[in-house]
Order: sequence, then structure tokens, then C-alpha cells
Amino acid sequence: MTKPLTAPIIDGRIIDGKAIAAALRAEIAVKVSAAGFTPGLAVVLVGENPASTVYVRTKDRAAREAGIAARTIRLPADTTQAVLLATIEALNGDDTIDGILVQLPLPKGIDSQAVIAAIDAAKDVDGFHPTNVGHLADGRPGLVPCTPLGVMKLLRATGVEISGARAVVLGRSAIVGRPMARLLLAADATVTIAHSRTRDLPAECRRADILIVAVGRPEIVRGDWIQPGATVIDVGINRLPDGRLVGDVAFDECAGIAGAITPVPGGVGPMTVACLLENTLTAALLRRCL
Ligand code: GUN
Repeated sequence: MTKPLTAPIIDGRIIDGKAIAAALRAEIAVKVSAAGFTPGLAVVLVGENPASTVYVRTKDRAAREAGIAARTIRLPADTTQAVLLATIEALNGDDTIDGILVQLPLPKGIDSQAVIAAIDAAKDVDGFHPTNVGHLADGRPGLVPCTPLGVMKLLRATGVEISGARAVVLGRSAIVGRPMARLLLAADATVTIAHSRTRDLPAECRRADILIVAVGRPEIVRGDWIQPGATVIDVGINRLPDGRLVGDVAFDECAGIAGAITPVPGGVGPMTVACLLENTLTAALLRRCL
């Protein structure tokens, strides 16, 4: 899955995640149709969190468009952990299913860690299972979380030199920050993880040749936090009280300073979905020892 992407990548300094994701999705569709079997993806949604409902619908539709047999399993918000675990057990044993994704967050009262650990690691297309987290921590190949994987593909598409670069990851979540730092390290960057307790965040960010921001705080990164020419990847997506959708980076302030920058929306988001499809195909091929 390392073929060069042919879509327009950067318009001026703006990294076109939508176009890069569309090219990747088209590549995956070709590979799926050539595979000789239909990969299966099960997406489990518990409750009706509005954002999760939209994400799940987007993932299901994208999978179908790539030729993957997608199935969304909707469970009521009052589903017990035992019922959810039994659902996962059934999917683990279903040979038509290659990938299982349980949309997070889960309703209160359900232990997310226990649920993730119950997924067959070979079908864990989110890359959240402790076995896959361990593989990534050790720098071994495995199923890697979709958002950080998408960020790596964006960086590669921009042509930025990762090896030897000073990379700062702002945020230490299990879904983005930690796996992001591990992927950058595996690509030979010099990596710093900064977070809410970091002293002088702006100074840490200014050291970055590559700055990845994933903290969920609207426009926390200001123009004077950016090293001129740096590559800035904004993983945040925040709805402001006035209805506007903004990232964790003050885009208008930073766009003129960064060498390349992702917009919100249209940056990282579409890559997360495309990488889920890639992980599903990867899991399907690995399960068949292809
Ligand atoms: N909630 C927010 N991001 C993600 C993700 O990448 N996977 C899952 N399963 N839930 C999420």
C-alpha cells in the first residue's frame, strides 16, 4: 500500500486530505476487486451519540464504495457490557468478518478497555487491542490506529523529510497522540510528546519541523507557536458555539507561516476513513495468509 499517490496533494501550502484520501480509497477499491474475495467489516455503535452516528455512517458508506461488505450493528444505549461482549464474540467467530470496529466513546458503565481487549486482535482494524498496541510500541508490523496512520500518509504525500526531523506531537491520547509518536519514531523522527502539563507549550511547538496537534481544544495553537516553514497537521475537529467547525490550530494565523498545513475539515478526517478501509483489506489478506 505504498504506491505513490497521483491526486493533487498540496494547493499552495494547504494539504488536500480529501484528494489524498480519495486517491487512497480508489487504490483500495482496485485491490479489493482484484482480491478474489469480499472483505467484511462490522461496525458496532452503542447508543446514539450524534457525532458517532455520523462517523459510523461515513465509515459504512466508504467501505461499501470500496467493495467491502460492511455491516453496522446498532445497539441501544442501555446495552449491558455482557451483551456487547457477546456481540463481539459472535463477530470474532464469524468467518465472513475480517474487521471489527466498536465506535468510541461507549456509554457510561461499559469498560472500553475490556471491550477492546475482547476483539480478536487479527480483526482489530482500529489497532487499539493491547496486542496491536504492543506491536506498534515494539516497532513491529501490525494493525495501526487509523488516524495516526492517515497522518503518516499525509506527511509522505507532502514529501516532507521525516527521518531526522524534530517532530512534536501535542496530545497523548491512546487513539492519536501515543500511536502517532510511535509511528514517527519508527520513521526515524526525533519525537517529543507535549501535553496539558508541559511547561511552555508554545516553545515546544516552535521547535517542531513537524507539528501534529491532537488535543481537542479549539484553535489552541496560535501563529507564534509555529516555526516558519514547519509542516502542521491538525487532528482536531471542534464545533464552536456559533456553529463553525474549527481545528486545534488557528488556521488563518498559521497558514502563512507553516510550510504546509492541513485544513479542518478536509485534512486528517478523510484519511482516517480511508485508512480504516486499508486496515480492513490488510486484516483480510493477513487472515488468509495472502
Ligand atoms: N472515536 C473517535 N475516533 C475513533 C476511532 O478512530 N475509532 C473508534 N472506534 N472510535 C473512535
